[in-house]
Amino acid sequence: MAVPLLDLNAQNLALETELTAAFARVLHHGQFILGKEVTLLEEALARFTGARHAIGTSSGTDAILLALMAAGIGPGDEVLCPTYTFFATAGCVARVGAKPVFVEADAVTFNMDPVDAARRITPRTKAIIPVHLFGQAAAMDEVMALAQQHSLTVIEDAAQSMGAAYRERQLGTIGHAGVFSFFPSKNLGALGDAGMLVTNDDAFAEQARLLRTHGSKPKYYHKVVGGNFRLDALQAALLGVKLTHYASYTRRRRENAAYYTEQLRQLPGVLLATEEAAANTKLILPVALPTNEHIWNQYTLRVIGAGRRDALRALSENRKVGTEIYYPVPMHAQECFPDDRFAPSDLPVAMRLASEALSVPVFPELTRAQADEVVAVIRDFLAAG
Ligand SMILES: Cc1ncc(COP(=O)(O)O)c(C=O)c1O
Repeated sequence: MAVPLLDLNAQNLALETELTAAFARVLHHGQFILGKEVTLLEEALARFTGARHAIGTSSGTDAILLALMAAGIGPGDEVLCPTYTFFATAGCVARVGAKPVFVEADAVTFNMDPVDAARRITPRTKAIIPVHLFGQAAAMDEVMALAQQHSLTVIEDAAQSMGAAYRERQLGTIGHAGVFSFFPSKNLGALGDAGMLVTNDDAFAEQARLLRTHGSKPKYYHKVVGGNFRLDALQAALLGVKLTHYASYTRRRRENAAYYTEQLRQLPGVLLATEEAAANTKLILPVALPTNEHIWNQYTLRVIGAGRRDALRALSENRKVGTEIYYPVPMHAQECFPDDRFAPSDLPVAMRLASEALSVPVFPELTRAQADEVVAVIRDFLAAG
């Protein structure tokens, strides 16, 4: 049985009538940039997260860029950023002319190791970007303590974690600003690119809104140099429909993750990420830490042993089970970020995770038979060696 990594049609076509009606509404009123649909989505997201302000953007990447610009980060500044993340986090730091300073990963959560972050602070450090990877929070108590101690701006990259919580606080609302992505594969996926910036700071929100439209106020009078980071009315309208189903998506993802864990942990050589690894450990399963409400954007395994992750991936492909490697190359080892402070062999936890990580299908519409097929492939792989 084929099991895709993600089945967007299963989710979107189930809402065809509602999505088509939203499309028709925008088609007929004819206002395609910002406007009522965007304001409604911003208000809904502010309510959903509890943030004072939600500002719709053209993508999650642009929301990060906008947050850095609104925080006044620029040339000469250093920004702490996990090395184990999607490129956009670090790319935006470089695009505002600042230097991304890469931080080691934590092997249990894949998130930024706050002890390593503390070691890398210099007088130039102006901001820190904890990324809440795969649907669960980074160590926010430690990040916030560090930020307070060194007067750092905290921009939460919650691109993969909208609706997840840390000590019952919604991710994105703990730092100075938070960023969500509505890229189609995210838990709330648009039918194109879209993102959102949230903040509780009125002045920061005002600056971000200004920068979102070329820094102009009034029109054609430019106080600052901004960009076009606006959210389309059409995407906002479609996202508004999907947001009403979000709780059920999250519930299904949690059920799928719990099912995998229950099935897989019984197998020999399989441990939870919080358990002590032994000589015969073959596979490590992801866990939600007690501080965290996890929303399972990904269910990411660690496959132990040289070449073993790639072997499991190849077997999965043969059996028509979709998998993905998030992420094969940490940021400090990317060609575009040369830095004398880092050799690829530095930050060894991140390097190890990059060679072990394999994400398997956990999307809401995954059927029980499909989940059983994923489990069967992994069981066969472990049994074979
Ligand atoms: C951690 C992280 N940051 C930033 C982004 C960028 O979001 P987008 O693709 O909407 O630009 C993504 C998603 O692609 C992401 O996973």
